[in-house]
Amino acid sequence: MANIPQLKSKLPHIGATIFSKMSALANEYNAVNLSQGFPDFEVDPKLIDMVEKNMRWGKNQYAPYTGVRELREVLSQQIHRDHGHLYDTDLEVNITAGATQAIASVITASISPGDEVILFSPSYDCYAPYIELNGGIPVYVELNFPSYTINWEAARKAIGPKTKMIIINSPHNPTASTISENDLLELEEITTGTEILILADEVYEHIVFDGQKHHSVCSKPNLANRCFLVGSLGKTLHITGWKTGFCMAPQSLMGEFRKVHQFMVFSVNTPMQYALAEYLQEDQNFRISEMYQGKRDVFLKSIEGSKFKALKSQGTYFQLLDYSEITDEKDVDFAVRLTKEFGVASIPLSVFYSEPVDHKTLRFCFAKNDETLKKAGELLKRV
Ligand SMILES: Cc1ncc(COP(=O)(O)O)c(C=O)c1O
Repeated sequence: MANIPQLKSKLPHIGATIFSKMSALANEYNAVNLSQGFPDFEVDPKLIDMVEKNMRWGKNQYAPYTGVRELREVLSQQIHRDHGHLYDTDLEVNITAGATQAIASVITASISPGDEVILFSPSYDCYAPYIELNGGIPVYVELNFPSYTINWEAARKAIGPKTKMIIINSPHNPTASTISENDLLELEEITTGTEILILADEVYEHIVFDGQKHHSVCSKPNLANRCFLVGSLGKTLHITGWKTGFCMAPQSLMGEFRKVHQFMVFSVNTPMQYALAEYLQEDQNFRISEMYQGKRDVFLKSIEGSKFKALKSQGTYFQLLDYSEITDEKDVDFAVRLTKEFGVASIPLSVFYSEPVDHKTLRFCFAKNDETLKKAGELLKRV
């Protein structure tokens, strides 16, 4: 038998993600799958036609490593229009293979062994592994419960001489909370006079509810000048499988980002970039906030009369439900039982914490057809 060398794991505590586990369970039990965060409705056919056209026009070879210029330009214009900060198309904008690769490149370019990175927990799951792979140390500050707002006093205390970066995610996955103008002022206050960088993960920038505005970290000049802004066209245009995102940052930061980016992927798929540029040049009024707010409300209406208590969803396509009136089972156990016995798959919130925190809440993705949401509601009412 061949002697297979064994690897010493660089991420020993990471196993199969809860997302694949819950999806596999949903398939096995034929449950309505509201666990993973992706839409189950189709992309605009016009966009598909544009990709096809660009493929036929021969846009099939490597794109520039910075990204197709027309796409960088239109994205820079959109951020300028929405948040007032103008990123230089050539020097400060880069197209990436989804927000994930942007985050990976930002952290790799910025974090050296021993550097500390402040994260708010619960947090999206890809930040900590990249910090650790680069020898950095994640320092967790817990969000206030149940508002999931930032505890600025705790954040201030977490800052030390080794703090290199603070990661802000708004609208927030998994809690569906958003940051306010006041949060930006607090962030400005705690970082002014320091060398601390900010990674602003704003992939749900266009999904904000109830007439609110998205407060981008780049809207404050004192924050924009220390910030890597990350976005995802996957989220905005229902094309998560195309893995197309972007990073914007001041020239000196972008220079270091690009050194890493070019050896991580070099460039991102070409025909999609041309098609996206053309599509966004025609229309940048995404109107997806209204569409997703409608879906949130369909889901909330469908669970009216159930024993679940909805926490406020201010953005993203997630809704948290508190099940403490139903049982005191651990959220992971209850999520499994809900899938097996009642036919609805969700994600338990405790998996997004570094510490064992269990507020008896589950995350449901409502980026689904209305019929699917109503069916899920009917099933949840039986619990
Ligand atoms: C908060 C957050 N950041 C980043 C990503 C990754 O985005 P992409 O699919 O563009 O890599 C996601 C995807 O779920 C997310 O929820």
